[in-house]
Amino acid sequence: MTENIQLNSKGKLKHFLSIEGLNKTLLTEILDIAESFIGMNDQQIKKVPLLRGKTIVNLFFENSTRTRTTFELAAKRLSADVLSMSIATSSTSKGESLLDTIRNLEAMFVDMFVVRHGISGAAHFIAQHTSPHISVINAGDGQHAHPTQAMLDMFTIRQFKQDFSNLRVAIIGDILHSRVARSQIQALNILGAAEVRVLAPKTLLPSHVESLGVNVSHDLTSGLKDIDVIIMLRLQKERMTSALLPSESEYFKCFGLTEAKLKIAKPDAIVMHPGPINRGVEIDSKVADGPQSVILKQVSNGIAIRMAIMAMAMQKQGAAE
Ligand code: CP
Repeated sequence: MTENIQLNSKGKLKHFLSIEGLNKTLLTEILDIAESFIGMNDQQIKKVPLLRGKTIVNLFFENSTRTRTTFELAAKRLSADVLSMSIATSSTSKGESLLDTIRNLEAMFVDMFVVRHGISGAAHFIAQHTSPHISVINAGDGQHAHPTQAMLDMFTIRQFKQDFSNLRVAIIGDILHSRVARSQIQALNILGAAEVRVLAPKTLLPSHVESLGVNVSHDLTSGLKDIDVIIMLRLQKERMTSALLPSESEYFKCFGLTEAKLKIAKPDAIVMHPGPINRGVEIDSKVADGPQSVILKQVSNGIAIRMAIMAMAMQKQGAAE
């Protein structure tokens, strides 16, 4: 739904709303530009002047720890002026419409909006209604997409496994409600992963899930065989409108990742999770904190990926000027 407005007339990134409609060359370019920013983590002065003079507004209508803070850090490292709006205390709580909020912020000469919203399509809607010079980055919309999360996950996978073409990736848990899973599946297929396998109870899978380009298994024991990358997902109880599971303890017994189950995957498999993790629900602490876990590496990589995407959307690239 978003492929037409994400790119400018030269095929360059203008907005970043969804992985859908983007190609392998562009996704690889994002990963490569992020790579050029990674070295900054060890520098004393973690700043480049690429977005000096630009104003970025973080509009988070849903809670966030990782995405909001890494977007803010990324914007600051690019030398942009960044405002993180507290929606709970903004005038949306007095009945102002989303569009009126956007128009008022536009009147303050904003260059980019980073938007998280509970409604699928919200970032796309804003992109359609903003002035042409403004870029919109989707920081997660409803159950639809979380494209920057998917890209930081692809970056982390490439960091540990180099080549996508031989990789078998298992995504485990609440696929039905997960915008992260949708974006990850799209990115893995575009980047040429050998297999994307989803492991979940039938009640936590969308209908016709195979049409997304995945194999399906309902059994962790057989489903983890030959897997190189394991991505665990949280049960999104806030999006469940009816009881989809007997109990959390029953779920953990069947779909929770323990040290014993991890041994079924390849010995060098990595364990990922977009966060927030629920220990003892989808993942055992010994796995989450264990030697195969790259969960905190994902968080760190979120800064470089978001720097790359923001710089590209403003058509400013490279780690240093
Ligand atoms: N992964 C992720 O989106 O985490 P937050 O909700 O904390 O931003």
